[in-house]
Amino acid sequence: MTDNASSAAPEPGADAVNGGGPAPRERVGVIGAGYVGLVTGVCLASMGYEVTLRDIDANKVAALNDGQVPIYEPGLVEMMSEHRDRLTYTLSLERMLERSEVVFIAVDTPPTYSGDADLSRVMSVVEELEKVGADARHVLVMKSTVPVGTGERVRAELDARGLEQVGYCSNPEFLKEGAAIADFLRPDRVVIGSFDDAQGDRVAALYAPLGAPIIRTSVPSAEMVKYASNAFLATKISFINEIANVCEEVGADVEVVAHGMGLDSRIGSSFLRAGIGFGGSCFPKDVSALKQLAGNSGYHFQLLTSVIEVNELQKRRVIGKLKKHLGTLEGKRVALLGLAFKPETDDMREASSLVLAARLLAEGAEVVAYDPVVEVYDRLHGVSMTATAEEAMAGADAAVLVTEWAAIVGLDWAAAQGTMRSAIVIDGRNALDPREMTRLGYAFEGIGRIPAHVGAPL
Ligand code: UGA
Repeated sequence: MTDNASSAAPEPGADAVNGGGPAPRERVGVIGAGYVGLVTGVCLASMGYEVTLRDIDANKVAALNDGQVPIYEPGLVEMMSEHRDRLTYTLSLERMLERSEVVFIAVDTPPTYSGDADLSRVMSVVEELEKVGADARHVLVMKSTVPVGTGERVRAELDARGLEQVGYCSNPEFLKEGAAIADFLRPDRVVIGSFDDAQGDRVAALYAPLGAPIIRTSVPSAEMVKYASNAFLATKISFINEIANVCEEVGADVEVVAHGMGLDSRIGSSFLRAGIGFGGSCFPKDVSALKQLAGNSGYHFQLLTSVIEVNELQKRRVIGKLKKHLGTLEGKRVALLGLAFKPETDDMREASSLVLAARLLAEGAEVVAYDPVVEVYDRLHGVSMTATAEEAMAGADAAVLVTEWAAIVGLDWAAAQGTMRSAIVIDGRNALDPREMTRLGYAFEGIGRIPAHVGAPL
């Protein structure tokens, strides 16, 4: 990859870094007001652009027009309200197209049974664009995570429908739920893949005020950057989880090991937190989709097969730990502390808590759960929710820290200890201090941590 310090259009196929410059006041449309669409739209409005968000869900559009935010993302409500004059929400694609030139597509691409990404929503947008009449003013910008090759497919579809004049770029998102606004406004990089340099320039200009490196490349390379990044981060997590499991066997502490590894600048310290596996709407789906994509092209991506398997097994390891302390789980009351797939989100997609709760119920345990944000979730059938963590722990035979919400990590553990039937805590996120928990009288286990009584330096 060749970096280029100028913001001029790159040679075809070359990559360049855009240094910035005044952004033209293009108006922005966003199709799909989910996590990615809302964050993208609201952040662009905060940068001064006029933004029109279009969604097909009438209730969602009505709620947004009422100032309600359908998702939990720190800072989003405040930003929406601060920039409401530049934000319009509509059901009408026609209205959105009238009011915008650069149009982001941020619709769902859920996994199908085969592990491929379902592109039906993307394709129905293309169909609608033909009906409504998008034109040469419009550049479509794919934000949704789509398999490599989708851009070429969409381009061909647009051309076949007489929409040759409509532009198309790939601009994958790298937003972490819970920190999405910061990730959007202070990105490590912005990746823009284009078929036509001038179209890519228009998208690059939108981002120029952020002063971030802008990678300009082909559409398939941009699509691949997204999958490869998520797959690599997921691999790092499964790797450290396996190291943690080995640490348990050999009496080493994974926290120290990860720290020691992470200081090597070639490795880096992020995404080396061992625990009960990764979840969310992105990693599980994207790792499977990349594996599938490789398989469809005749390549067996062996490493990713293991990354997925390790993650599935990791979620279940807590059950073994509980059995070690409690024997059978039949009739035992187990408190799950935190349910969302990670803190600062209400997202339950692929959350480790779902597998854990289902396994515990299958073992005959009584499951009580607390989450600061998730209050009800239909797939937690059979789990009793409590209003506080303390309530969940009272009378429990064991508690499992599933999501490291600050409010849960910062609980008054000393007080909670006395309320449990037996003071057993499994820390699925290595968020608590084993020595302190042991000092408080808990039978305590993390993931890949040295039992506190060994007394070795942590
Ligand atoms: C992830 C990526 O981090 C974003 O860059 C990407 O844009 C996004 O997917 C996406 O494709 O849309 P997200 O799923 O929001 O973002 O959450 P992460 O913070 O990456 O966490 C994913 C899961 O990995 C969580 O369950 C978390 O608990 C787990 N994790 C993370 C670990 O178990 N250990 C770690 O060291 C880091």
